[in-house]
Order: sequence, then C-alpha cells, then structure tokens
Amino acid sequence: MIIISPSILSSDFANLATEIGAIAQGGADLAHVDVMDGHFVPNITIGVPVVASLKKVSPLPLDVHLMISDPLFYLPAFLKAGSDLITFHLESDSDPSRTIDAIRAGGAKAGLAIKPKTPAEAVFPYLDRLDMVLVMTVEPGFGGQRFMADMLPKIEAVRAQCRRQGLSTDIQVDGGIDPSTAPLVARAGANVLVAGSAVFGHPPYADSIAAIRSAAAAAL
Ligand code: DX5
Ligand code: ZN
Repeated sequence: MIIISPSILSSDFANLATEIGAIAQGGADLAHVDVMDGHFVPNITIGVPVVASLKKVSPLPLDVHLMISDPLFYLPAFLKAGSDLITFHLESDSDPSRTIDAIRAGGAKAGLAIKPKTPAEAVFPYLDRLDMVLVMTVEPGFGGQRFMADMLPKIEAVRAQCRRQGLSTDIQVDGGIDPSTAPLVARAGANVLVAGSAVFGHPPYADSIAAIRSAAAAAL
C-alpha cells in the first residue's frame, strides 16, 4: 500500500491549519513536517512550538523529519509536542541506538534517514528496531530540488535487506517526488512517498495527491 506524506515545507506558513486540513481532505495519509536547525542543514524551518500547535489541529498523524545535529537532546520536546513518527539522520551527532530507543520509549514510531552519500548498508544494523527507513532522494535542506535517480539502487538494497530479515519496514523517500518519479521509487521498494512542491505547488491537492498515488500504485 502506498502512503502519501505531503511536506508542509512547501505550504503557506501563514495558514498552516488550513493547509493541513486541505491535504487531509485531499486524501493524504500523513503530514510531513521538516524540522531544520540551520546547522545540520543550511536552512531554518519549523521548531517544537509549531509542531505542538499543529498537533492540536491536524487530522493527520505528524511525520516529523528532524534535520538537526542533536536529535537525542531535543527528542523529549518533540515527543511531548505530539510527533507520531520521528525520523532522525544517521549522520547527526546522536547515538543511533540510544535515539531509536528514546523515540520508541516515548511512544512514537522511529525512522532513520540517510543522506545521498550514505550507503544503504549503514542502516542495516538498526533495521529490526525501526518502523521506517528514509532514503533521501535530494540533499536535505530545501524543497523543490531535482530527484536523484542514482538513489534507486539504494532503495532496492534496503528493501532487499528487509526481505532477507523478514521485515516489512516502511521505506520512505523524500525529495523530487512527483507523478513521474513516483513509479520509479515504488518499483524500487519505497512505500511512503513525501512530496512538497508536487502537492502544494499543484492545487487542487486532491488531484495532485491522487496523481502521485496512482502513478506509484500502477508501477507495482
Ligand atoms: C528537504 C525536505 C523535503 C522537502 C521535499 O530537505 O526534507 O521534505 O520538503 O520537497 P520536494 O518534494 O519539493 O522535493
Ligand atoms: Zn523531509
């Protein structure tokens, strides 16, 4: 089953409640929230208070993508704010095992993200304790970048390893996903598709979400 998680990074920040309501109405499964600290990536976006406010109004579970240097330090705050799924980067400064344990102990689902230069094998030691692996298909930091097709073998490698271990782990992709790239990532084994500009830049959202979902599903 294909899960669509529109990234609100490309939405109207002056009207976040309306935007999140509109993607829910349009058939989205999750709301992807990009948290950036200006240190792990060269951009600053959303922080804990905004996640807490979104939680109060969001009809969708919050899929929080932490692009920050020290996720372990900030975890209690993001858990308290109501994050449903928390994904942090393997390239961050936090110990991956301790961070995964802390997310799960806090009652959220745990995701581990890797940047384009990090190999698939780097997530293998943690696979059996993860709900999701996020394979970045652009360098994290900004919406609207071009999809990196050379990440497809990495998605395949993560999916193959999940199969070998008998795991049905979700594989998320993030960056440059639209109706033309969705079939490629779905065929490679991804089932959770993040899309920012392809949803919020192409209203009505019900149509843009359906276009991505059906393009991915048709490829399976
Ligand atoms: C990039 C973010 C993405 C971004 C995707 O660092 O993690 O979630 O919003 O935007 P698009 O879909 O426009 O590439
Ligand atoms: Zn993201």
